[in-house]
Amino acid sequence: MPSSSCKIVVLISGNGSNLQALIDRSEHYAYRVAGVVSNNPAAFGLQRAAKAGLPAAIIEHRDFPDRETFDGALIEAIGAFAPDLIVLAGFMRILGPDFVEQHAGRILNIHPSLLPKYTGMHTHRRVLEAGEREHGVSIHFVNEDLDGGPIVARSRIAVREEDTEQSLKERVHLLEHEMYPQVTDWYAAGRLRLRADGVYLDEKKLPATGMEIPAPPGVR
Ligand code: GRF
Repeated sequence: MPSSSCKIVVLISGNGSNLQALIDRSEHYAYRVAGVVSNNPAAFGLQRAAKAGLPAAIIEHRDFPDRETFDGALIEAIGAFAPDLIVLAGFMRILGPDFVEQHAGRILNIHPSLLPKYTGMHTHRRVLEAGEREHGVSIHFVNEDLDGGPIVARSRIAVREEDTEQSLKERVHLLEHEMYPQVTDWYAAGRLRLRADGVYLDEKKLPATGMEIPAPPGVR
């Protein structure tokens, strides 16, 4: 794929700080944000998109009688941007299994835990409750399993004695904002691919836990 023409569409539901990081870094990287799709009309990320002059589509599930028609509208909205890669950034709806299967290897998600541990919600709280000494971020290709697709990259931080849900969330966000543009660039530059037997970066197969990206010094 010609690197500078890799179009991504970013799917959001809320704040959109990862969307912001993707927008901000895009001028140095091989992807460009073609558009944003939100299932939530009140998502702050939509304001970020507008400020960046990006087109956005709002597909609210309440406007549709059932799951199938909502999924259909979502797929249409994504398709209208003709993306090479779909980037989920705090998108709180599950994509339909057929769509996911058809786009295998072309959808990335970011999740605030060291997968395969702590799939699902409230990861910071659960990590604290479990007394974990480490926490972090994972980026993975999306498949039909919730937060269960092939892992591309992880980055870790130490859980400190004084950490709270909020302080963990803040450090995890800093990690995310570094990692997501970088990993998206790997894909855009043709360096990252999902193959039948696993995830490849620069023609080398990655371990099942993905590439380990060191946290920036101030974040650990
Ligand atoms: C991030 O923590 C991401 O890992 C998770 O949802 C959060 C989205 O944050 N999937 P933001 O909307 O990008 O600020």
